[in-house]
Amino acid sequence: MMKKLSFIAAIFAVAIASVGCHCGRGGDGYTIEDGVIVFDTPARAAGQQSVLGLAVAPIETVRVGFVGLGMRGPGAVERFTHLDGVEIKALCDLLPERVEASQKILAARNFPEAASYSGEEGWKELCERDDIDLVYVCTPWQLHVPIAVYAMEHGKHVAVEVPAAMSLDECWALVDTAERTQRHCMMLENCVYDFFELTTLNMVQQGLLGEVLHAEGAYIHNLEPFWPYYQGNWRLDFNQSHRGDVYATHGLGPACQVLDIHRGDRMKYLVAVDTPSVNGKKIAAESMGAETFANGDQTTTLIKTENDRTILLQHNVYTPRPYDRKYQVVGTDGYANKYPVSGYAFRAAQVSKDLPDHEKLDEHSFLPEDAKRALMERYKHPILRDIEEKAREVGGHGGMDFIMDYRLVYCLHHGLPLDQDVYDAAEWSCIGELTAMSAAHNSAPVAVPDFTRGDWKKIDGYRHRMAE
Ligand SMILES: NC(=O)c1ccc[n+]([C@@H]2O[C@H](COP(=O)([O-])OP(=O)(O)OC[C@H]3O[C@@H](n4cnc5c(N)ncnc54)[C@H](O)[C@@H]3O)[C@@H](O)[C@H]2O)c1
Repeated sequence: MMKKLSFIAAIFAVAIASVGCHCGRGGDGYTIEDGVIVFDTPARAAGQQSVLGLAVAPIETVRVGFVGLGMRGPGAVERFTHLDGVEIKALCDLLPERVEASQKILAARNFPEAASYSGEEGWKELCERDDIDLVYVCTPWQLHVPIAVYAMEHGKHVAVEVPAAMSLDECWALVDTAERTQRHCMMLENCVYDFFELTTLNMVQQGLLGEVLHAEGAYIHNLEPFWPYYQGNWRLDFNQSHRGDVYATHGLGPACQVLDIHRGDRMKYLVAVDTPSVNGKKIAAESMGAETFANGDQTTTLIKTENDRTILLQHNVYTPRPYDRKYQVVGTDGYANKYPVSGYAFRAAQVSKDLPDHEKLDEHSFLPEDAKRALMERYKHPILRDIEEKAREVGGHGGMDFIMDYRLVYCLHHGLPLDQDVYDAAEWSCIGELTAMSAAHNSAPVAVPDFTRGDWKKIDGYRHRMAE
């Protein structure tokens, strides 16, 4: 732990020293303030209103249209057939055969055939329909924002795969469009619904870990076997030309929820370091004939919050390593860790004597397995009490994808604010451009924009909204 803290301190010190000589000078669209690169915040346009806590009238039957039916989309179509109070009105993909394949999913589940759209701009016709409440987007990253903005402008709520946006301008486009149209824009960050994360969030909210000081997250997943299957090579194309942590949301989302980001705290600035691209460059040379590759094989980011807490993020989709999202939560009274071994650690005195093995508890190691299980059962999140069994049955990354869809539809049915708002989408997605900027400037600190434009303290703590 001490080793890790001194590493963190060293990175911050190097980063601050490295921009000392640039004070006062800025570039296009940013200034340098106290050694921190600060991107300009666009003024809120007349007629726009905050969507913090946005609730719309309950929607009894959620009518949905899906866009993007590649590796990810059809699973979402299938999961929706297990939800009550939904109608699947339309399916769209660039390729008509992929639409057909998803029609077969509907038929197999005894759902009526949906309207089919295909081609480059079929999604526009889908968004223009007047019998759809929700557009669910599983396309390549480059299309997320154009489709989401068009859908909101046509009165639809949108759910967009991760990352919702790929640049700061795109993040602001989502925020501004949601504020102008007063539509929901939820990023489909599924990892916040995984069983360990939800249970740990509940423990944090009940105070079991004390004050949370630090959290970690990552996307470490060797995509070597997957690169050839992204339609039109969109993902390798993007990484080839973009430096930074371009896929931060799976690691960052759960960390932000335990830290109440834009519900009492906010991410203030970050610093990033990256390694050379070796494997990424080799794959791109072989498959695309590329001579350069902007995305480092491993990118590491440190974030400091307004309340002085810290987040450590990692991104590596290139080297052979076991799948890892880290998810570590460091509190003054306890510790949670999901990968590579899931466990909790507390002071022995803190843990109730009716847990199994309480004599053996010791803050220098994880709770024994049976004590961990008993604790997780006791602190099971209310959402899991509702839906865990069905989620495990329906599946989707072990069930978390179904919980995500269930919660989205539940909140729409009950007219509640969604679990993830457009500010989450922007905050978790902006990391790509910010880390690229930091890495390109000797790990200079880069300010994280306040997408709420000053409202980040208005909500007191992160909570899922329940109908009761
Ligand atoms: N949350 C998760 O766990 C998770 C997992 C995998 C993928 N994803 C996300 O899902 C999205 C899709 O990823 P994927 O792995 O399915 O990629 P993919 O390439 O397999 O699928 C993308 C689909 O979009 C279609 N498409 C392309 N242009 C289109 C257009 N103009 N109109 C309509 N459809 C178009 C393609 O034909 C393809 O079928 C990405 O944003 C990715 O990050 C998320």
